Amino acid sequence: MAARSPARRPHVHGHDRRRAAPPARGGRAPRPGPPGTARRRHGGGRPARRRGGTRQPVRGGRGTARAAGARAAGSGAGAVTGAVMEAGPRAALPRRRWPAVPTRELTADPAAPPARIPAPWRSDPYADAVSAGRGPLFLRRTDGWMLPLDVERWCAEADPADLTVLDRCRGPVIDIGCGPGRLVTALATRGHPVLGVDVSPAAVDRTRRGGGAALCRSVFAPLPGEGRWGTALLIDGNIGIGGDPAALLGRVARLTAPGGLLIAESAGPDAGERVDERVEVRVDDGRGRTGPPFPWARVGTAALTRHARRAGWRVAERWTVSGRSFSALRR
Ligand SMILES: C[S@@+](CC[C@H](N)C(=O)[O-])C[C@H]1O[C@@H](n2cnc3c(N)ncnc32)[C@H](O)[C@@H]1O
Repeated sequence: MAARSPARRPHVHGHDRRRAAPPARGGRAPRPGPPGTARRRHGGGRPARRRGGTRQPVRGGRGTARAAGARAAGSGAGAVTGAVMEAGPRAALPRRRWPAVPTRELTADPAAPPARIPAPWRSDPYADAVSAGRGPLFLRRTDGWMLPLDVERWCAEADPADLTVLDRCRGPVIDIGCGPGRLVTALATRGHPVLGVDVSPAAVDRTRRGGGAALCRSVFAPLPGEGRWGTALLIDGNIGIGGDPAALLGRVARLTAPGGLLIAESAGPDAGERVDERVEVRVDDGRGRTGPPFPWARVGTAALTRHARRAGWRVAERWTVSGRSFSALRR
């Protein structure tokens, strides 16, 4: 079956994917991160080979979904377009002193049981894909609509669109739903105290193996540094976590320090600014294995702004790059 119309494109994009670069050799020593974090070099050496790819959602059988997931078509890296909503970039995203989040709080206890963790993201299709570093993998809606998940991009190094997020981070950073941890590693390399939080043991394990600090826990469970994080991240469609953006935005407001930032990715321009839907989905590998159903949400920029304002956030900046839409929200 053919891919659906562009109007039904998912918020979990293929975008411009970047292959995992080989470990960097030589070059300037990176700034130190928290204990146990990566010592990687970014931005130098050979330019990474890029593949375009706006993935299409598909409806129908698993074989069809697999074929559609294998297709990758789209544009190359785009310019950053956007608007600063306050007096200017510096005013919008000021440098300031943040309350400390002691590094011992960033060190997860690997022995701690993953208590009260919802099953879906612990299911085999997700764990296997994250461990292998590749898909195909989908969120399958009950009506058969499939959102391809860009596991390869998540398992690669931070790409140019990700760097626009990293550049705006201030203070200690909590990456909510960190997945395999590319942003955690990149931030640690930049010298940010950073903690990834994810309910998937496979994702947390991969983040730690990459040298990042990560905790296997739900964002809705008690977390270290509550009310003290300088920046919280909800990237790659993670505004959908829990299927209730208002509840999630309220929870993140309680995690961040007064004046702190939330950088959230919304459904890209393809999906439409106004998309605001709650859906029941399963993780599906396109080859017959699915996880249990769970609630998810898909939110465009306009809807994100509306939910955010109600939760006490104001928009400091919005930008779009490589077909991905981001908002920097300030408490
Ligand atoms: C769409 S993926 C995003 C992947 C990630 N941003 C990356 O770079 O790889 C959603 C992630 O959120 C995690 N997740 C789902 N529910 C969660 C929750 N309640 N708390 C924390 N993480 C959650 C999943 O395990 C999964 O890794």
